[in-house]
Amino acid sequence: MKKITVHASTEYDILIEKGILSTCGNIIKEKISAQKIAVITDDTVDRLYGKVVGKSIREAGFDVVKFVFPHGETSKCADTLVNIYDFLCKNSITRTDCLVALGGGVVGDITGFAAATFLRGMNFVQIPTTLLAQVDSSVGGKTAIDLKGGKNLVGAFKQPVCVICDTDVLKTLTPEIFSDGMGEVIKYGMIRDAKLFELIAKNDQKTIWTDLEDIIATCISIKRDVVEADEFDTGERMILNYGHTLGHAIESYYHYETYSHGSAVAVGMCMMAEKTCEPETVKKLKSCVKAYNLPTSVPADIKELVPLCGKDKKRAASQLRFIVCKTIGKAEIHTMSFDSFSIWMES
Ligand code: GLY
Repeated sequence: MKKITVHASTEYDILIEKGILSTCGNIIKEKISAQKIAVITDDTVDRLYGKVVGKSIREAGFDVVKFVFPHGETSKCADTLVNIYDFLCKNSITRTDCLVALGGGVVGDITGFAAATFLRGMNFVQIPTTLLAQVDSSVGGKTAIDLKGGKNLVGAFKQPVCVICDTDVLKTLTPEIFSDGMGEVIKYGMIRDAKLFELIAKNDQKTIWTDLEDIIATCISIKRDVVEADEFDTGERMILNYGHTLGHAIESYYHYETYSHGSAVAVGMCMMAEKTCEPETVKKLKSCVKAYNLPTSVPADIKELVPLCGKDKKRAASQLRFIVCKTIGKAEIHTMSFDSFSIWMES
């Protein structure tokens, strides 16, 4: 088993191992002394892993209740959140009990936010079941729901008591959802680790599995280091947003329907690299992106995307902060007026 410890405002372990799902109950028992556990999940994940997780938690001596909501980003909303609160009330969940987020980013984000706010805060455990959630969203304590006005607009920083990553569960992902996570994996190589980038680049969608556990652990370690340096996202943590300024604009331009988050980030990285990198670096990045069936460009004109970049949360007043990797493995935070950014991107 690989164990990575995060030293943030609270300290917690991220455990990575094939098949660890069936022992999650005992792992949770070592971390907390709750009586009841409320598992929050979506219908797809429940069908695949609800039983095994419920059984393991029950056998570890906890009372288990489960709340299942329809899969997909549209569920990450205030209505679902209120339904979760009502469910927790109905089942007499107290502050000393614990929530378990079993699923991908949507489940992790909304469950984390429920844990941050229900009864003014209670423990929660992350059991991420997508590659994207394992390498990114389950680590670092960002929790949120979406509003009509945009994604993740209401949220809180709330660290989990532990993160349990079973790499076996990634085998049931569709190729598209797997690729979605690879967008973030490539990002980690670009911002912090040239060796990781070379490792991913030598593989492709079919051959990645041999190195996948090490790759996931490397990504999590990078995220751990960044979160430890800047838990509340006021400085260095922004490097995790490489490819995201344009990526978020792409997701929004296509109404979150055409491009998944990882696909949009892949395009965002390629577009930024074209502006800032030597041709050889752009070529390497694009070839890696293509190896995982991710797009390197979108049909939308840059003139239509740039205004949407202003809606990114990394904008402070008229200034836009965005991330540049001139070379693979090294990220810089750049600040520009929004007008200069528009002229520069459109030139
Ligand atoms: N996913 C970006 C962050 O956690 O800061």
